[in-house]
Amino acid sequence: MAEQKKAVEEREPFHWQTAISYKVLDRIVVRGYDVNELAGNISFAEMLYLVWKGEIPPKKVAQMIDALLVIFSEHAMSPSSVSARFVMSGAGYIMPAMAGGILSIGFTHVDAHEAAEAWIKIVKLSKEKGWSIEEGADYLCRNIRTKEEKDLEFVRLFGERRVLPGWHHPQHIKDLRSPRVIELAEQFGIAGDHVRMVQAIEKATKNYWGRTLYMNIAGAISASLVDMGFEPVECLAFCALSRSVSIVAHAYEEQKREKGWRASSRSKIVQPLDLSLQKPEYYDGPEDRKLPEERIVVPLTRAPYGYTKGMEKE
Ligand SMILES: CC(C)(COP(=O)(O)OP(=O)(O)OC[C@H]1O[C@@H](n2cnc3c(N)ncnc32)[C@H](O)[C@@H]1OP(=O)(O)O)[C@@H](O)C(=O)NCCC(=O)NCCS
Repeated sequence: MAEQKKAVEEREPFHWQTAISYKVLDRIVVRGYDVNELAGNISFAEMLYLVWKGEIPPKKVAQMIDALLVIFSEHAMSPSSVSARFVMSGAGYIMPAMAGGILSIGFTHVDAHEAAEAWIKIVKLSKEKGWSIEEGADYLCRNIRTKEEKDLEFVRLFGERRVLPGWHHPQHIKDLRSPRVIELAEQFGIAGDHVRMVQAIEKATKNYWGRTLYMNIAGAISASLVDMGFEPVECLAFCALSRSVSIVAHAYEEQKREKGWRASSRSKIVQPLDLSLQKPEYYDGPEDRKLPEERIVVPLTRAPYGYTKGMEKE
């Protein structure tokens, strides 16, 4: 007891402990470099790598990061841009709108974390088993698709997974950005086992789905980020960071161009919250009903503004 008390008393006073950066009155130092010296001398892509990974990356890695930030930065109307627009239409302020856009990113919109984790696990398992990349890809597809019991090791690593993460695009079907990501990864010399694995998976899908299922942008980005040393969490965050560019544009355009609330019956275009889009015919919940008599404390005697005629009691 006395020893425990002594140990508590000997603890250091609170201070932040970090390997990322420090600041004093007249200097801000990031991973050892003065931020003022970095500004004007390195690109934002290089800065991202420096802050996240600790070093200024080789030129080709920086070019690839930059290309990925560009290719993912805008995608017209998708869950994040539309969420940002809706939050802006209610909140009328950029910060909640940005947060709303970001919050829509996850398992079905982007999915880069799940994808990255899957590529890491299947590449590692293939190495442990002495399989080729193609054999690893075949194992993954076979176990995802099977209607029989999955391999026990597969379940331990991937759970009862039934869809390929980072795969398929509901609008493009063949995501037109993925081949460009793979091309760039090869050109910049960063394509490694994980990029090769997603290419092999794409080929293997035909054997198990009866048609080729194509990797989407998140599948391709996550494979190339993992080949550059990024972790699954960083892969998802990377996509959110890039897509923030779009989120800001959509949120601000919403504020400048639209009325708010998105329901005006006087707009030229029928609005997404227009009453005509949410008629009783489209409702399939419980039938209209009354509160039981014993629950009535203050009876309803007036119809508001006479909209519902015949309810008013004289
Ligand atoms: C995004 C997603 C929800 C769209 O699914 P969806 O709306 O059902 O897509 P579609 O209706 O066009 O699906 C067509 C077919 O492909 C199948 N399919 C779609 N995505 C698949 C995937 N990732 N793995 C395996 N099969 C998939 C569907 O089951 C469907 O098959 P069926 O007709 O035999 O039932 C789905 O593709 C998915 O969960 N992908 C993984 C997550 C991901 O990568 N998200 C980022 C997208 S940018």
